[in-house]
Parts: sequence; structure tokens; C-alpha cells
Amino acid sequence: MHGVNLDQLGRRDPAHYGELSFDQLEREISEFAAELDLVVRFYQTNHEGDFVEHLHRLEGLVDGIILNPGAWTHYSYAIRDALELAALPAIEVHLSDVDHREPWRRQSVLTDLCAGRVTGKGPAGYREALALLRAELAQ
Ligand code: DQA
Repeated sequence: MHGVNLDQLGRRDPAHYGELSFDQLEREISEFAAELDLVVRFYQTNHEGDFVEHLHRLEGLVDGIILNPGAWTHYSYAIRDALELAALPAIEVHLSDVDHREPWRRQSVLTDLCAGRVTGKGPAGYREALALLRAELAQ
């Protein structure tokens, strides 16, 4: 699940987000998933309520969640509550190294609900996230 402004990848600061477009990123993630024998479904929105409602709908449809909610990560208690409600294993991912950027990016209101967190590894971070999720599901 990708949140706000992630659809603009390719236009965002390449120093933090690289050159890949959002479509290319999703293609890479699909390849990582296929290598790990996982099936992925994608969702992206720039609307917080839609992100929340998507989380509401996930029960029974998926085994786990990989989410990069973009800036919502840092302050959205609405998304936090919905993630808690989803009650599925989740991995938080950030393309950029959020812990070494502006101080406000160091805070995540989601991390303690997640089984893992991957930051600053660019697209390869999603491969790590998929592997973490698979290990979590195997337990
Ligand atoms: C991001 C980091 C956030 O701080 C930022 O607002 C984003 C993307 C990342 O992937 O590095 O939109 O989640």
C-alpha cells in the first residue's frame, strides 16, 4: 500500500527517492514477489480516508501488508487506528533514509504495530520487506 505522493515518484527529489517512476517501482516489486513465490496486490491513493477504508477492507483478502504511507507515516493516527484494526502482519517501508533527514521524519506513528521496518534502501527495500513478511507468515 502506497500513500500520499508516492505516485509522483520519478518527479521527486532523486537524491532521496531515485529516478524510478512509480510504475517501474511496482514492476520491480512484482518481480521481487515472484522470486519469493508471493502474490502482491497494489494500492495507492493520495486521500487519507481512502487509505483508511482500504485497510478496513483487507481482512480475509490478504495475508499481510507492506505499507509506505509517505508523509502520513509521521502523524496519521487515523491510519494507525485502521492498521491496528486490520490486525494483519505488516511491514513499514520507506525508500529514503527517514531517520537521517528532517527531524519530523524520524517519528513514525506506525512502527510499533509493524513486524518490521525497512528504510533508506530504495526499491530493494521492498524485496527485504517481502522477505520479512514471508518469514513472519511462516512462523
Ligand atoms: C517516504 C518518506 C516520507 O517522509 C515522505 O513524506 C514520503 C516518502 C519514503 O518512502 O522515503 O513521501 O515514505
